[in-house]
Amino acid sequence: MARHLITSAIPYINGIKHLGNLVGSQLPADLYARYLRARGHEVLFLCATDEHGTPAELAAAKAGKPVAEYCAELHQVQAEIAKGFRLSFDHFGRSSSPQNHALTQHFAGALEREGLIREVSETQMYSKADGRFLPDRYIEGTCPNCGFESARGDQCDNCTKQLDPVDLINPHSTISGSTDLEMRETKHLYLRQSTMKDRLEKWIDTREGWPVLTTSIAKKWLNDGDGLQDRGITRDLDWGVPVKKGDQDWPGMEGKVFYVWFDAPIEYIACAQEWVEAGKGDDWERWWRTDKGADDVRYTQFMGKDNVPFHTLSFPCTILGSNEPWKLVDYIKSFNYLNYDGGQFSTSRGRGVFMDQALDILPADYWRWWLLSHVPETSDSEFTWESFQSGVNKDLADVLGNFASRVTKFCRSKFSEAVPEGGQRGAREEQLIADLTAKIREYEAHMEAVEIRKAAAALRAAWVMGNEYLQEVAPWSTFKTDPEQAAMQIRLALNMIRLYAVISAPFIPDASAELLEAMHATDAEWPTDVAAALEVLKEGHAFTVPDVTFRKITDAEREEWAERFAGVRD
Ligand code: MF3
Ligand code: ZN
Repeated sequence: MARHLITSAIPYINGIKHLGNLVGSQLPADLYARYLRARGHEVLFLCATDEHGTPAELAAAKAGKPVAEYCAELHQVQAEIAKGFRLSFDHFGRSSSPQNHALTQHFAGALEREGLIREVSETQMYSKADGRFLPDRYIEGTCPNCGFESARGDQCDNCTKQLDPVDLINPHSTISGSTDLEMRETKHLYLRQSTMKDRLEKWIDTREGWPVLTTSIAKKWLNDGDGLQDRGITRDLDWGVPVKKGDQDWPGMEGKVFYVWFDAPIEYIACAQEWVEAGKGDDWERWWRTDKGADDVRYTQFMGKDNVPFHTLSFPCTILGSNEPWKLVDYIKSFNYLNYDGGQFSTSRGRGVFMDQALDILPADYWRWWLLSHVPETSDSEFTWESFQSGVNKDLADVLGNFASRVTKFCRSKFSEAVPEGGQRGAREEQLIADLTAKIREYEAHMEAVEIRKAAAALRAAWVMGNEYLQEVAPWSTFKTDPEQAAMQIRLALNMIRLYAVISAPFIPDASAELLEAMHATDAEWPTDVAAALEVLKEGHAFTVPDVTFRKITDAEREEWAERFAGVRD
């Protein structure tokens, strides 16, 4: 038994996320957390809303609400939808929490004490038409790195390069469209990341077994020198964490806030404090302070590839630079993008299926299964309605659901709604148990390595073994000549339903719970001994035929949904 800290990249507050966001961090993080809990480990799984910065300001303005009120509302909305998808966060926090304010200010103070902050008098884009300094996101222009024409002031969405607004070619205000921008003088704090290159490089080089996607992105920014230029960590905005060093004022920084990407990852830590504050835990330091036991914790982060530079370079700079005993991440699992039907999911253009809409159509498990078994792990992947229909119908309905319903119905009609007695397992059963054991061990190995597609494939293969066995031994024919033998086969199959429910729970928690309930199973222990797990439901143990666990998606539905989500969400 070990201790696992798991965080998912914290979603921006500005609206309901689409399935591409979900599959790129929260959902795989949940899968991993559920798996580790099922294996008996102690898990702290944290997520939050990312509430500062200009996206929040812009969205609130669009909704015609004060930004604090908007954020409080949207946090509730996101929390409810997360529950709908059965995301099992131990706490779903808010980056605008008092804890994060204090901790962000604390880190700034520590970094300044370590000589890692410099004050820079700089000129910044001021828009006369808008009467304000323009934050990064309010400026668009051409990316100096790749030539993409709608690069934002903070990052190019095309090549993922982190930018400063002054780098852009032909910049204009996204508020008014005005190109009448002038540079005005303002003072900002810079984090001297450049001085930390060697420390960071050494840290990254000593991480074992990191996914190629993660290290290649990290190394690219490190070696280009790009990710490690000193970076402005303050902004001229009202909404955010006020610039202070610890609880002291920071002369000259009045009216400024920290840059959202400075305070957001700190929320991973503050969230654990919020978890304690909410009465759900009593000690956050044993998860986060290496002087308080966090050295024994394995910390895994989940995120989309665009987040990797911030988690491999910027946030570690904050942690290492503070020279305080904070826990650093042990393993970063990053994902490519999920596309939608021949294009991109897009929040701004409302393209694709959003989390609330998905749950209106079908229960969470259908989405969880398809998304996780198609997670964009080694390359981008694509959501199409055909693929979704076929994944659900084949894997869930035809394989798993069908097995459970066939076995229980047959038993009810030929024996009773109780595990039948009689018969002896033979060579075919021994073989099945050996095959299942091997497959489940393979599944566990993939889960431990966070190889999600491979884990899904192994799980599906274990389900298939049940159907193959039934097909082969055909209890419906056996029954005619040797009812005892058929009883033994069905007894084994009923036990397999319980076994499947247990091992499938990380992927499809609701269906698993339904199946366990139908089997009147009180034991949901992980099957470390598969043979023993297949003896748990004894002769005479009562069960109930489950209602259809998975229904099929019809062609008519598929067509209707494809049409409904082809356009733009209003
Ligand atoms: N809100 C960011 C995004 O959705 C992720 C922030 S992750 C954190 O891309 F590290 F900053 F917390
Ligand atoms: Zn670019």
